[in-house]
Parts: sequence; C-alpha cells; structure tokens
Amino acid sequence: MKIFISDIAHHNGEKVRLQGWVFNKRFSGKIGFLQFRDGSGFIQGVISQKEVTEDIWDLANKLTLESSAVIDGTVTKHPKHESYELQISDITLIQMADDYPIGKKEHGPDFLLDNRHLWLRSSKQWAIQRVRNTVINATYEYLNKDGFIKIDSPILTPAACEGTSTLFEVQYFDLGKAYLSQSGQLYIEAAIMSHGRVFDFGPVFRAEKSKTRRHLTEFWMMDAEMAFVEHAENLNIQEGLVSFIVKKVLEKNQQELKILERDTKPLEKITAPFYRMTHAEAIAKLRKLGSDIKEDDDLGGDDETLIMKEFDKPLFIEKYPASVKAFYMKRDPLNNELALCADLLAPEGFGEIIGGSQREDSYEVLLNRINEHKLPVKAFEWYLDLRKYGSVPHSGFGYGLERIVGWVCGTQHVRETIPFPRLLNRLYP
Ligand code: 4AD
Ligand code: MG
Repeated sequence: MKIFISDIAHHNGEKVRLQGWVFNKRFSGKIGFLQFRDGSGFIQGVISQKEVTEDIWDLANKLTLESSAVIDGTVTKHPKHESYELQISDITLIQMADDYPIGKKEHGPDFLLDNRHLWLRSSKQWAIQRVRNTVINATYEYLNKDGFIKIDSPILTPAACEGTSTLFEVQYFDLGKAYLSQSGQLYIEAAIMSHGRVFDFGPVFRAEKSKTRRHLTEFWMMDAEMAFVEHAENLNIQEGLVSFIVKKVLEKNQQELKILERDTKPLEKITAPFYRMTHAEAIAKLRKLGSDIKEDDDLGGDDETLIMKEFDKPLFIEKYPASVKAFYMKRDPLNNELALCADLLAPEGFGEIIGGSQREDSYEVLLNRINEHKLPVKAFEWYLDLRKYGSVPHSGFGYGLERIVGWVCGTQHVRETIPFPRLLNRLYP
C-alpha cells in the first residue's frame, strides 16, 4: 500500500510502499541504512544483503544522494527510540541523481542561495516552510473566526502606500508609471466600508537598499483592517492573532521545531496580553541602556534588539512621532505631534513583526496630510472619497510573514523563511 511517511505510525508491522528521495546513506558490511524522505517526513530504511536479491542490493549500494525511488518494505518500531524504520524488500529506481552539490560539509550562504532550488530540500529548510504553512493557515483560521473576510488587494497600483522612497516602478502601457504595491492597506480600507472587517495576504514590494537580516525586497504581508475599531482595540486584536499563531505552531510543528533546534520555552510564554510602552518611554529606556537615539527618531533594528533584552513577550511601542510615520495615520487627540500607531516587536532579538495604526478619517485633515507629504492628490482621490461617504473610525495593521516565521523558527535571517528570496543583490534562482 502506498503511504506517506507522516502516517507511518498507523502502519506498524505492515508492508508499505514509499515514494521519495534518498537523502543520505551508510553501508557497513552486509547491512545498509538509507535515509529516505517523501515530502511528508523522514525515515530510515534498513536493507540487509541476505533479505533482498543481488540486483536490489547492488542498486541500493549505487544509489546517489537525492536519487528518486519507490521503496517497499515492512514498518518496524525502532528498538530504542519513539520512531519507525522500514525493513526494505524492494527498490525501484526512478532517476539516479547526478553528483548532488549540497553535501554534509558546511556551505557558505551565497552558495546555498545560488542553489536555493535544491537547498529547499534540506531538513531545516523543509521545517521552516512547514512552519510558514502553519502560520498562514492559523492566520486565516483566527481571522475568519473573528469575523474577517479575505479581500485581495492589487499589486499594480498608481501610487505609494508607505512612502515614495521604496517604490518599484513599471511602465504601464500608455497610462504612465505603475508601482508594485508596498501594502494593500489603502485598498482594504475601501473594503471595510463594504464588509466591516477584512484582511488581505499577498506579496508586497520594497525597493529599499537595506542589507539587513530583516529586509527582503519582496515579502508577504497580511494586512487586516477593521471599521469602528480604535487604537487600543487594534492592539488587542493583534495580540490575539499573534498568540494564536504561536499556539498553533507549538501544536502542529513539534517535529519541525526540533529539527530547527528551536527552544520552545520562550514560545510557550507567548500569551496575551503583550507589553505596551509609548515611543517616548522607549526612547528614555534605550538611552538608559546606552543608545544615543534622539527623541524624535524612529527605532532602528539595533534599538529594537536592545530594548527587547528586557522582555520575554512581544512589546507594542505606541504613539511614535507622526513625522516618522506614514501620512494616513490619525493623530493622537492628546498630542497632535504623535500618531495613534504601534509597532509590535518580537522578543529574542527578532525586531518589528507588525506595523499598525488608527487611520485618519476626516476628509480635510487627510487632504492636508497628502499635500504635506507631497503625494499626488489625483491618485488618492478614491482614498479621500472613503472619508466623504460614511466615514467611520477605523484601524488596521500589517504583519510581515517572513518576520513572524523567522521569529517562531529562531531563524536569524529572513531570507531563509521565504522559498525564493529577493534581496538587493539577488534575483536568482
Ligand atoms: O510597518 P510596515 O511598513 O506597515 C505597512 O506597510 C502598513 N501599511 C501595514 C498596515 O497597517 N496594514 O510593514 C508591515 C510589516 C512590518 O512590521 C514588518 O514585519 C514587515 O511588514 N516588513 C518587512 N518584512 C520583510 N522585509 C521588508 N523589507 C519589510 N518591510 C516591512
Ligand atoms: Mg513598520
């Protein structure tokens, strides 16, 4: 019977067929060990010369790393560990692989990234993508349950969402320049006036020339937007979502976290409520910790890491100076210099995972902001319309999928959390 390795425990003692790839092998005398993977998991196949035909024994000896094959055998429980093995009776070769470039020895990151199409098969990379899948599904599950529907936002757009300095341009027929979306936020603001609560989830683009371990030029963002939700409630929704995601990963991905050697203790602590601090308080704290950050500065990556040394759960930093934030943010009624916004920082040095805010809902104020930011009013007419026809207080946030996956997996560089990373100096493969 054809089965997946992930179901192996249900077939103890049975004769089964597996289809997959050889990822390692070791022979000693009349016995051989084939490490086999089928996409759903990994298993050790044991082959004994006296149990199989000469042809099969020879084939097993010749199999190269990453050769594809169908193997038949009987499932047995490992005598010592809580794991299963396959006592191999037959092997059908599908393709004998060429000399595989990724071996047991250490490779540099450039080599691995050049071979990303193959590197994806390595056990750690396999584990990261499985966790990514859980994060995506948990997000849909939580938001759908909480009354959100998914609305898709466009990728080709006529104007900037997050500021003009990081836009990728494309020529759009006779209509002039189009820009790759930096966030679907503005569009889902339109959708909440139809549906109340919505989210989008898709690739976004930032033409930033930063070479940090937290930046990609193409990454996946989930934007959520809610009508009749103000600043404080916005944060409650975020911490509910993030703690649900972490809980789901702990439930579904123990094997993956083990492969990644991720200490799960810090993740077990991730329950709402998270910590909250104003930007002004954060600056004071950072100065105490030795940073030379100024009052009106945005936090840099190093500041984020530094401040999180003191926190074992995510921290919201609220009310940044409006001058360092986007044009659409509503100002704090208690201090017009501040934005009703928050960034959510992950613990353990993983930095900002969410950016969000209450949105400006007054037509006049928003028009002034667009002008102050020297943005093309014409391109924002539709967005301004939303403040003319039944404007309501509303808020939203966007998370960076790769940042969340990186944090949960304990992966230092976000480039490993997306199947095919796009970086300042990398567009291949
Ligand atoms: O903070 P950002 O720029 O916020 C927005 O784009 C808002 N429009 C979202 C909203 O309110 N709907 O980006 C949101 C998140 C960041 O917190 C970070 O996790 C991630 O997106 N992010 C990046 N991830 C990888 N590479 C980059 N270059 C990123 N820039 C932002
Ligand atoms: Mg941000």
